[in-house]
Formats: sequence, structure tokens, C-alpha cells
Amino acid sequence: MVMTQHIGELHPPVRLMLTPGPSSIDPRVYRAMATPLVGHMDPWFKGCMEETQILLRQIFQTENRITMPLSASGSGGIEASVLNSLEEGDEGIVAVNGVFSERMYEIATRASSKVVKVEAPYGKPVDAEDVRRAGKGKKIKMIGFAHGETSTGVLTGIDAYRKVADEFGALLIVDTVASLAAVPIDVDKQRIDMPCRSTWTSSGLIFALAARKKRSVRLRECRRSP
Ligand SMILES: Cc1ncc(COP(=O)(O)O)c(C=O)c1O
Repeated sequence: MVMTQHIGELHPPVRLMLTPGPSSIDPRVYRAMATPLVGHMDPWFKGCMEETQILLRQIFQTENRITMPLSASGSGGIEASVLNSLEEGDEGIVAVNGVFSERMYEIATRASSKVVKVEAPYGKPVDAEDVRRAGKGKKIKMIGFAHGETSTGVLTGIDAYRKVADEFGALLIVDTVASLAAVPIDVDKQRIDMPCRSTWTSSGLIFALAARKKRSVRLRECRRSP
């Protein structure tokens, strides 16, 4: 028989966490989390979600209607972006220069698509020129990379990747899990199709996924498989 054990109330110590993640949370977020639980079918919830989306659009610097929180980790958001843009047989490129971009590549290989890995040594960004070379003559549908590669601390410029993605007519998926709200990113101006951010890395935010309406939504409507 299992003995009943009494465990006291939770009293975690207050730590100042300055690493890329997990990081310290603003006290307003703690206060919000202590408010009553409301079901997702409750009429109040709709207004709350709309306000959340307004705030997320400000953080992402986007006017895109489809800017939403997912109840998932950063990896879950990357998975949602990558697997919703690739279907069986589609061609894509993932630039790999560390643990998290490698993870994006692994996720992409699960889509039964033909995804090419373009690598740089850890500690260096992958040159967009190498990505262009790798995609030459192919029908590249998606290009992905980690903007802030936490495992090595390397920041990769977005604009050169956007240029290459435009040449291929490809979607640009950017892992901004550790960089959005830490360094300036303007999703609309820089024309990122799907940026991902998580709650607990770099600042006390909420995980979010933003999709550029024109391309990504049309893509969803044109999918050959569910
Ligand atoms: C750049 C980057 N991408 C993805 C992730 C994965 O996020 P999560 O641990 O929330 O799945 C992390 C986590 O540290 C990260 O730093």
C-alpha cells in the first residue's frame, strides 16, 4: 500500500534568470496567471484572445490577422510552421549551424519532403549564397533557418535569406525563438512568412506563430493533403 505523503504548498525561490532561456517573467504575467480559469468556449475568451493577438502583432511588428498563440513549446511552433508548409515530395532547404537549426531540419525530414541541409561550422552563420547554390534548378518551396542560434550565440541576417527565398518563390520560416523582442525584427518589413517565438526564451512572452497572410494562407487552402 502506498503511504499518503503530505507535500506542502509550492514556494519556489525568486531567481533572476538572465540566460537566453528560461528567463525571468514580468510580475504582471504572474498576476495574470493567478486569475480565474475560463473555458475556451466561454464568450469572454474570444475577447481575451483578440486582445492577445493585438499584443502579439505589436511584438511581431505585423498587421497579419493570423498571429496567434499556440499551447506548445518553441519546438512545437517550429514543427507547426514547417510541417504545414511542406507536403510529400516538396523541396525545401534548411540552413544548419547549430542544435536548433539541426532540429528544424530533422522536423522537415518528417514531412516526407526532399529537404536539403546547407551547413556552416558551428559559430558561423550559413551564407545565403550557399543556400542559393543548393537550390539552383530545384523547385524550392520553403527555406528555414534559426535567426538567433542559441547553441552558439550566432545571429544570422534575415534580408539576404529573404532575397534568395524570393528568387525561388519560397516561403521563409525563421526560428526567432531566442531573438524576437531581444533584437529588432520587423516581420512585415522583412517579409518573414512564418516567424516563431516561445514564452520562456529571452523574455517573459507568450509563444506565438505569425503567418504572412497572402502566401501562407493561400498555401493552406491549396494543400494536397490534410
Ligand atoms: C533558437 C531556439 N529554437 C528553438 C528552441 C526550442 O524551444 P523549446 O525549448 O521551447 O522547444 C530554443 C530553445 O531554447 C531556441 O533557443
